[in-house]
Amino acid sequence: MKKKLVIFSGAGVSAESGLDTFRDDGGIWANYDINDVATPEAWLKNPNLVLDFYNTRRRIASDANPNIAHKEIAKLEDILDVTVITQNIDNLHERGGSSKVIHLHGEVDKVRSTGTDEVYLQGVDPLLFGDVCPNGHQLRPHIVWFGEQVPNLTIAEKVISEADFLIVIGTSLNVYPAAGLIHAASDSAPKYLVDPSDNIKISKIENLKIFKEKATIGIPKVAELIRKEFR
Ligand code: APR
Repeated sequence: MKKKLVIFSGAGVSAESGLDTFRDDGGIWANYDINDVATPEAWLKNPNLVLDFYNTRRRIASDANPNIAHKEIAKLEDILDVTVITQNIDNLHERGGSSKVIHLHGEVDKVRSTGTDEVYLQGVDPLLFGDVCPNGHQLRPHIVWFGEQVPNLTIAEKVISEADFLIVIGTSLNVYPAAGLIHAASDSAPKYLVDPSDNIKISKIENLKIFKEKATIGIPKVAELIRKEFR
């Protein structure tokens, strides 16, 4: 039975693939107001603005490619049972080769019926107001907006609680309940945090090694450390 590695990722793992993060200088929330594009109220008030926001992000994500960090994470599947728990809505972990990915905040290449909650693959095509599901209900982005429940939270908590190793990569740990997941890991599990920032908000975590590096530098280093444990 392979030991379990859990990767908890945020926007920083996709930064070197060219995707903007949210809270770095010039990030997404510097250019858009969350209340205009990422809440249920925004959807009711101005659905076209919300649809444009996600159509743009869908196109940008589709044009991006997985980077070394995504690929090194996927390669660890040859020695470990790897589950990626990501806050990201891009599919770069999947396209980098990861076979088990849990999305906490949705997936930008999918859409959902506002009537039946049925999920459909949208690919890169823009979603427009008036696009409906087979039952005639408006389709919406398959995204967890601020103020909405995080459907995969329970499974994510269980997966992290069973982790033998945890890697936290590219997240400012600003948004709850996702950010609270790191406390679900056992104290005894070796934990590695990869992020170039000087002000990582992380406290009271046992067994933690911090790599103040970009993902494409830090992840290969952590992967090598973990592989050494298995030689
Ligand atoms: N390599 C690794 N980490 C990086 C890199 C990089 N090249 N560049 C930036 N980072 C780090 C930043 O230092 C920061 O800690 O990535 C983190 C990005 O933080 P945020 O922009 O807040 O993104 P994230 O933590 O994923 O946001 C969580 O907030 O807006 C919501 O739903 C949205 O899922 C998102 C959630």
